[in-house]
Amino acid sequence: MNRFAIAWLLALLGLALAHNVAIVSDAPNNLEVSYLLRWVLGFAVVIFAVVAGALAYTVWKFRARSGEAGPGEEGETLPPQFEENARLELSWTVIPLVIVLILFVLTAQALVKITRPIAGAMPVEVTARQFWWDFRYPDLGLRTSNELIIPAGRPIEAKLTSGDVIHSFWVPSLNGKTDAVPGQTTYNRFMATEPGDYYGYCAEFCGASHANMRLRVIALDQQTFERFAEAYKNYRAPEPKTPSQRRGLEVFQANCAACHSVKGTPAKGVLGPDLSIFGNRLTLASGILENTRENLIRWLTDPGAVKPGAKMPSFARLGQEDLSALADYLESLKLEGFDFSKLPQF
Ligand code: CUA
Repeated sequence: MNRFAIAWLLALLGLALAHNVAIVSDAPNNLEVSYLLRWVLGFAVVIFAVVAGALAYTVWKFRARSGEAGPGEEGETLPPQFEENARLELSWTVIPLVIVLILFVLTAQALVKITRPIAGAMPVEVTARQFWWDFRYPDLGLRTSNELIIPAGRPIEAKLTSGDVIHSFWVPSLNGKTDAVPGQTTYNRFMATEPGDYYGYCAEFCGASHANMRLRVIALDQQTFERFAEAYKNYRAPEPKTPSQRRGLEVFQANCAACHSVKGTPAKGVLGPDLSIFGNRLTLASGILENTRENLIRWLTDPGAVKPGAKMPSFARLGQEDLSALADYLESLKLEGFDFSKLPQF
């Protein structure tokens, strides 16, 4: 087999693997995309077989045999030469045209299907910022940041915009990318068919920590989601229970409340992520670190090292005691009875 054929085979194999890696859930958008991919892959295999087959046949059939004169040498013999073949020319014009038309119609259909407004979809307002995500639920009057909590089995209409530069909202297992553009509204509609913890990220280069601008979509079964929405609507940050948590609250009000908000407290800042249910969060720093005590202290002490370009300032000056009091307080901000860590990951 020649190198060309090997390269093609590897490319096709890569495509097939990429398909299996990128598309891991049965979300409707994914079904559309994998349906399209099967057609494209089918045509690609047929075209590959015809082109590589014809090439291999020609190379073998018209090869120079030993003792024969090579190209340009005296006594060189050429296979029969001809200049025109209407049937051949027509077929290599018409067949690709038909293939392109079929792919065009299928792609247009899929595009219409995945961008059409869906009746009964739950609206979510997504604001992308350097380098985190803000989510508001206009119908429920709720806000979360970096982790979007949705009901599985219900379509979501994400209304995207940006607070600074162009970002792009992408959760590969649920949807395609949609840019979030300052001053504009774009839409990304998707549905999680099964409960899970879906990994997403920013897909448009937006600055130093573009690669650190990740997110989670946490899909809960319908009943759990309703319970969650109800509990979160009525949620007020719990009163501090220990002296350390009390100290943490003071530290928070003095240092963090200007940028961050916590439901039911005077902290109403909107420059940074909402921390109302920090204790339920799976991740820190917009999806890049697991929510553990160690990571939290690391993040509070040196955000610039964890996430270059982040607007979060360092709080190393607070000292170990106040930092751990602050961590105690943050971890106490929790809706009891919800644990998202056991969900299957996509
Ligand atoms: Cu935001 Cu890249």
